[in-house]
Amino acid sequence: MKQYPMFIDGAFDNAADGRWFETHNPYTGQPWAEVARGGTADVDRAVRAADRAFRSGPWAEMTATQRGALLRKLGDLIAENADRLAEFEVQDNGKLLAEMGAQLKYLPQWFYYFGGLADKVEGAVIPLDKKGYFNYTRKEPLGVVAAITPWNSPLMLLAWKIAPALAAGCTVVVKPSEFTSVSALELAVLFQDAGFPPGVFNVVTGFGGEVGSPLVTHPLVKKVTFTGSDATGRVINQQCAAQFKHVSLELGGKSPNIVFEDANLDDAVNGAVSGIFAASGQTCIAGSRLLLQEDIHDAFVEKLLALAKTAKLGNPMEATTQVGPITTAAQYEKVLSYIEIAKAEGATLLLGGKPASRSGWFVEPTIFSDVEPKMRIAQEEVFGPVLSILKFRTEDDAVAIANDSCYGLGAGVWTRDIGRAFRMSERIQAGTVWVNTYRAVSFMSPFGGYKDSGLGRENGLSAIESYLQTKSVWVNTGAPTGNPFTIR
Ligand code: NAI
Ligand code: MG
Repeated sequence: MKQYPMFIDGAFDNAADGRWFETHNPYTGQPWAEVARGGTADVDRAVRAADRAFRSGPWAEMTATQRGALLRKLGDLIAENADRLAEFEVQDNGKLLAEMGAQLKYLPQWFYYFGGLADKVEGAVIPLDKKGYFNYTRKEPLGVVAAITPWNSPLMLLAWKIAPALAAGCTVVVKPSEFTSVSALELAVLFQDAGFPPGVFNVVTGFGGEVGSPLVTHPLVKKVTFTGSDATGRVINQQCAAQFKHVSLELGGKSPNIVFEDANLDDAVNGAVSGIFAASGQTCIAGSRLLLQEDIHDAFVEKLLALAKTAKLGNPMEATTQVGPITTAAQYEKVLSYIEIAKAEGATLLLGGKPASRSGWFVEPTIFSDVEPKMRIAQEEVFGPVLSILKFRTEDDAVAIANDSCYGLGAGVWTRDIGRAFRMSERIQAGTVWVNTYRAVSFMSPFGGYKDSGLGRENGLSAIESYLQTKSVWVNTGAPTGNPFTIR
């Protein structure tokens, strides 16, 4: 089996104590590579390297324009290697090659966009209310950033963090998911090839408790950016609070996909399927609650079942496959357990509801109707191909059900009534609302959660701000010294 050492201070290295762990291919359920199992000593070495690179040496001395050029070069290298990187992702997380291929081809845009933005970060000259002073602001990078990522879209979610962080002038220590560490290490090779100075980008692989936790609490880490479960996000948020660290969190969701009677039903069916069965439902923005207006409920369900039944399960590497396996054994068990919970709560099983009869961690696309808003299957994140259908009467009902959730990441609204589209977009508590589409994202458009779905926004111009801090500089150009005991 191929062995993947971690990447610290510009070089590939084994863990300090020489340990390894296996990573699995979800399609076969078999281990396919070994990854260095890091610990506190490795974290400390990586953070110190990142801190050194931040404070002095080529990265610290580089102009923002030069930093941007490096990021764009990295983007070019990712573009050249997109197919190869996508295959590593599929091998490690089991998502469709079609999906990961599309993600990887899109990935360079993050480095082009934020690379371009690097030298457009400007302070301001403040037209003060006081005479005799010149006051201006500087935008300064925070320092070492810890980026902790999940297994569902490993490189894409990593790019959302590191592209703005590096553009801002920070340095990063990445802790990829223990289930999908390989692609971050393959990316490290491209960082080397692009010519990034040592210490700017580091990858420490291993488990949450052994690597993630010491990384979050390391005193030299100034910001933590995390995507993953709300449970882990809550712990990280508390740890950051105790040390006054900056933090941004992209957590889970239970996103409502709301279909009104005046919608184009075929488009909405397509959107509903894309919302929950694409990526086997393993996306934070999964449209896992389908809200149907009562008059169209039955007709819609019929169309939905017809389309969902044709979904082809299989080898994620094959172009005709539409639904791949669940990424981890634990997640597979979790998805199956929620199916039992939904049955016990009295939801009606319309489709699927069991493991697919094949090797690997496959769950059949599953649909429940007659779901009530307070049921666990309507409230808790499953993170799998399990759809809950709820019925509503009026626009007000739809809003009340949609917002009856601790989460607020995404929402879909399907209607041909323009006024209703705007009203719903205003009333829904979610970081993203899609009208007559679903699951669209861009490097240019802010992404993040309301409520328990997270803190902060990734993507878009403002993303770079979350890796900067503002300094206000006052220069006396002739103001009188005045009374030392009063405010100036
Ligand atoms: P997780 O939140 O435990 O893991 C995410 C990352 O955090 C991994 O790199 C992990 O090693 C790290 N981590 C774990 N504990 C940590 C700690 N104490 N300190 C620092 N880092 C730590 O998520 P996991 O176990 O992979 O999946 C569990 C559930 O989370 C899923 O069933 C799903 O519901 C949800 N999830 C949500 C995602 C999203 O995009 N919002 C992505 C992945 C999972
Ligand atoms: Mg794996």
